[in-house]
This record gives sequence, C-alpha cells and structure tokens, in this order.
Amino acid sequence: MGSYRRAYEQSLTDPEAFWSAAAGLIDWRTSPSTVLDSSDAPFHAWYPDGVLNTCENALDRHVAAGNGDRTALVYDSPVTSTKRTYTYADLLGEVATFAGALSSLGVTKGDRVVVYLPMVPEALVTMLACARLGAVHSVVFGGFAPHELAARIDDAKPKVVVTASCGVEVSRVVEYKPLIDRALQLAAHQPERVVVLQRPQATAMLEEPRDVDWRALVVGAEPAECVPVAATDPLYVLYTSGTTAKPKGVVRDNGGHAVALAWSMANIYDVGPGDVWWSASDVGWVVGHSYIVYAPLLVGATTVLYEGKPVGTPDAGAFWRVVEEYAVKALFTAPTAIRAVKKEDPDAGQLAAYDISSLQTLFLAGERLDPDTWEWATERLRVPVVDHWWQTETGWPIAANLRGLEPMPIKPGSPTVPVPGWDVRVLDETGAEVPAGTEGAICIKLPLPPGALRTLWGDDDRFLASYLRAFDGYYLTGDGGYIDEDGYLYVMGRTDDVINVAGHRLSTGSMEAVVAGHPDVAECCVIGVHDDLKGQVPRGLVVLKAGSEIGPDELRAELVARVRDQIGAVASFKEVDVVAALPKTRSGKILRRSLRAIADGREEPVPSTIEDPSVLETLTPTLRGR
Ligand code: COA
Ligand code: AMP
Repeated sequence: MGSYRRAYEQSLTDPEAFWSAAAGLIDWRTSPSTVLDSSDAPFHAWYPDGVLNTCENALDRHVAAGNGDRTALVYDSPVTSTKRTYTYADLLGEVATFAGALSSLGVTKGDRVVVYLPMVPEALVTMLACARLGAVHSVVFGGFAPHELAARIDDAKPKVVVTASCGVEVSRVVEYKPLIDRALQLAAHQPERVVVLQRPQATAMLEEPRDVDWRALVVGAEPAECVPVAATDPLYVLYTSGTTAKPKGVVRDNGGHAVALAWSMANIYDVGPGDVWWSASDVGWVVGHSYIVYAPLLVGATTVLYEGKPVGTPDAGAFWRVVEEYAVKALFTAPTAIRAVKKEDPDAGQLAAYDISSLQTLFLAGERLDPDTWEWATERLRVPVVDHWWQTETGWPIAANLRGLEPMPIKPGSPTVPVPGWDVRVLDETGAEVPAGTEGAICIKLPLPPGALRTLWGDDDRFLASYLRAFDGYYLTGDGGYIDEDGYLYVMGRTDDVINVAGHRLSTGSMEAVVAGHPDVAECCVIGVHDDLKGQVPRGLVVLKAGSEIGPDELRAELVARVRDQIGAVASFKEVDVVAALPKTRSGKILRRSLRAIADGREEPVPSTIEDPSVLETLTPTLRGR
C-alpha cells in the first residue's frame, strides 16, 4: 500500500492518532492531552486543551533554534521598484515592536484588528503582531470598495484598523485613506484608532487623535512578548463571498490551523526549512493568509511577497524573473495568472530569458484549471503543474497531488485525490452517495480536519444553515463534481451563486443588490459567464421600470460605475443587457442556471417548473451574441 493510501486511511479511521502525530510539528506551551472533542458536534474542536502562540511558532522558535540569520521574507515590488530582505531575526524584531505598538493602543487578546493593506511587508508584520498578542486580525482585500469594507468593519467590530496611504496598481495609485474614511462614515461601528502607513507614492491626511502614523507609533514602542492562547481561540476572521450580499466571516483557530498548515507544507508542497517558496496571491485572500504568511514561516522556509502582476510589471517574464532571482523552489498562483502570461507570451519567448532551473513544481488553485492552460504550463516549464482544490472555509487543500508524501500521475482537469483528513463524498439530492463517474454535490463527512473553519463570526446559525444543514453529518462545499474509477476528484464548478473572477471569489448576489438599487431598474439578475482570461466574469440582465426613459448605454455606464463604487474594481462588472423579462419558475425564482448555460453555449434541459418558456427563447440571441 502506498504512503498516500496509508496516510489517507489512517486519517479517517483513526484521526486522533493521525493528528496527534502531526501536532508534533508545532511547539506548544501546553501540549494537548485531547486531540478531538466532538461533545458539541457538529461543532468539533481540535486540541481543545492545547495552549500555544502562532507567532511564536512562525518566528521566535526559529530564532531560538539558531536560525535567526535565515531569510524569512523577500519583498519584491516591481510597481514601486523596491526589493527588501528580512531574516527571521529581523522579522521577529519588527513584529514584536509593532505588537508592542498595537498593545500601546489598547489591543489585547480577543480584540479584532481590521487590516486594509496592500502587498507590503507591513501586512505580514501586522498579521503576525496580532497573532502575537492573541488579537484577531481580519484582512480586507484592497480591491474592495468602502461599502464592502464598512460591512466587514460592522461585523468584526475592530478596536483598531491598520491601513496604508495607498496601494499601487499597474496604471494607477489607489489612495486607501479616503476609502477608509468613507467606509467609516458608512459603518455604524467606529474603531478607536486607525494606524496609517505612509508610502512615498501618496501621503494620507491624518485626523488626530483617531489616526496615528505607523512610523511615529513604533518609535519607542516596547517589544511585546507572545501571549499564550487556547488552540481553539480565533486567530483570524476572513470574510468571503456567500450567496447573499452579506459576506461570511470565516473563523480560523490557532492550534488546528498551525498543525494543518505545517503538515501541508511538507506533505503537499514538499517545502521545508530554508526552501524558497512563492505564493503569488494577495494577503487579502485565504491563499495569502495560509501560504504567503503562516505556512512558509511555520516551517522555517523563505516566503516571497510580490507586489506586482504576472503581466505588465513590466512584462510577461515577470514571474520567471522572480523565480530566477530568488531561486524559487515552488510557485503557487491562480490559473488566470498563467493564462495572462500565455496570452501575452504564447511562445514563452520571455521565459527563455531566465534560468528557472530552481523551480521544481508549479501549484495552481483558486478556480478550475482548464486542460489547455495545464498543457501550456507543463510543456513550457517542464515541471509538474499541480492543480489542487480548496476554499476560504477549508483554509488548506481538500484535494491535491501530494508532492511530499507520494507524487501521483497527473490527470489534467483533476486536482487528483482527497488529502488526508478530508473525507470527500459526492452525494445526490437525497443525500445518497453516487457511483464513480456520476456528478453530484461534493461534500465532506464530518468532522472536518484541523485548520478548517470553526464557525462564522458571531453567527453559529448561519454556519449551520450555510454548510451543515443540507446533508446531515456533512459539510456542503458548494462545488459540484465527481470521483472517477481511480479515486481522482473532478471539480466542475459552483452549484450556487458564487463566482470566481480572475481567481477572486465574488457573490453575484451582492452585485444584484447594487444593480437593483438603481432607480430605473425594476428587476435584475447577475450571472457568471465564461471568460477566456478571467475564467468567469459577471454579466447583468436588467428589466427597466415601466415608463423609464434611460438609454441602454447610459444605464450600462451608471450600473458599471455603481458596482465599481460599492463593491470594487475587482468585481470586473462590465456587461449589462436590458431585457424585456427574466425567465422564472412558477414560484418566481429566476432561472439563473439556465441563463448561465445559454450564455456559455451549453445544452441543458429547461426545468419543467418554468413559468413561460418563451422568455428564455427570446433571451437566447442576446445571451449568445456577445
Ligand atoms: N487594489 C485596488 N484595485 C485592485 C486590486 C487591489 N489590490 N486588485 C485588483 N484591482 C483592480 C485592478 O486594478 C482592475 O482595475 P481596472 O478595472 O481599473 O483595470 C480591477 O481591480 C480588476 O482586477 P483584476 O481582475 O485583477 O484584473 P487585471 O486586469 O488588473 O489583471 C490578471 C488580470 C489576470 C493579471 C490578474 O487578475 C491576476 O494576476 N490574477 C491572479 C489572481 C490571484 O492570484 N488570485 C488569488 C487567488 S490564488
Ligand atoms: P476561495 O474561497 O476564494 O478560495 O474560492 C473557492 C472556490 O474556488 C471553490 O469553491 C471552487 O469553486 C473554486 N476553486 C478553487 N480551487 C479550485 C480548483 N483547483 N478547481 C476548481 N475550482 C476551484
């Protein structure tokens, strides 16, 4: 029996033994005597009596072991022409000092800190400083607009917000402070302080005494020690898109998270102490939390923080330049990034200019990896291109080709097999398991392994309703797919209204809420349709109010501006059609699935519950004629 099969079986038949052994990857202040407590099922607790500090595991222990001179962080920012390297000792110094600074503002264990920062070292410093104090960080992606930021501030109720004067996009400087100010005007909850990192590209106006300059704050701050926390205490809340306009605050604990990430680095990614690892994502997404910040530092590797894009900073050779310059062993990014490179440099001429011999594996996740992109990358890079599947909620991969445990043959289109700890089942609508090769709802039999979400912030009931009530005893992933005869999983796409635009997870529900707010709109729906570069893009269909005289171009421009203003540029909402009516079921539900199928050119049976089939027929030329 192979090592994968052995590990997978043990993780399901004897999870306590499996995760007890993995707990040895972490230094505990108090070792857990219980591995799994299911007394409050379906709320399961891993390592309930363990005590640790995540920052201590990510930094202090490496320095204490004599590895303070090892490189912890490489910051490479083509958009600001900056490069900087931090050893573990340097990073520990910065983090301890900023933790002291936060503590001087009254931040203590359990307080929330909202972080709205671009891809700068201070983002990692802030997150680790919160972890050091036992405070709970909540990072909001810089591409979200004030309205979205305000919703997160109202839900997390932070004591402090940490931000910068600006982010730097390829063609523009995005001033963050006006966005924060507007978010705080919209929010009911007000933080006591806003810490602002002034960057040379823009200077923010500070409103004293609420606003504090980062650099002034750290001068004279006393370095803070690590605060021991329970393994089950929250490390962070990360908001993600659900099917409604209200984002879901995924709660991650300290102990299970640290163990799972350390285990995944060795067994999935084959990355260990001293290896150079690059996750080209953003700290605002779960990939950034897990694999830019925590996992590489927990195992003593070097993490690359890249403030740039795959193309345009300055060209399609940017990724290969970084791989060569820092001798990156493994790169993790989204398929969209590779599609962008492929589009600009189809023959990989830019790649030929660099020596990428250090690169052993390319990992891709965040959206479906289409076989064309897989093939292009495999042929050009000549390394295994590994698709793997996970979600904000799970925090680490559910299905992967475990390069450190037992590399397996790759089947393009499949993220390979379930990872140890994840009891993946495909169910039909009655909750029965389907045979191999049959599509259904991909679910995980409870308990979820360490590192998965504990609940939704302040809303246990929504946690149960969103994930656990559909099928008793299972977590509903929201993805549909199948398992083939060899046990390989195929993830075909969401079964709900979540869409993935350029690897960014967005809710069509929240876009609909914004579009519906326009005074001329009677009814609307937003669907995700196929896009060659971004995987999916949103498309709006709008029915005008009777008597409205607005022209289609004017309406489109206003709706695009509205979504950009209220959700953010990252929504990439650009396509709107005015239609006479929307197809509905007899009970009044809009048939989004049928609309998606027509727009993507797929043949799908029209549901028998449709009220008026002629509405769908009338819309077909509009949907297909993009
Ligand atoms: N702050 C402010 N604005 C941001 C932003 C941020 N952090 N991130 C993106 N935006 C803006 C962009 O500037 C763009 O604005 P525009 O409409 O004025 O041009 C808009 O949001 C859409 O951004 P994006 O979807 O990223 O498109 P793009 O054309 O700028 O870049 C790619 C396309 C493919 C290069 C880019 O999407 C990419 O690198 N994707 C990979 C994503 C990824 O790593 N995801 C993480 C999951 S693993
Ligand atoms: P996020 O929470 O932003 O990580 O997005 C999670 C969603 O992205 C999943 O539910 C899937 O729909 C999609 N996704 C992530 N990785 C993959 C993958 N490897 N293959 C197919 N879909 C993926």
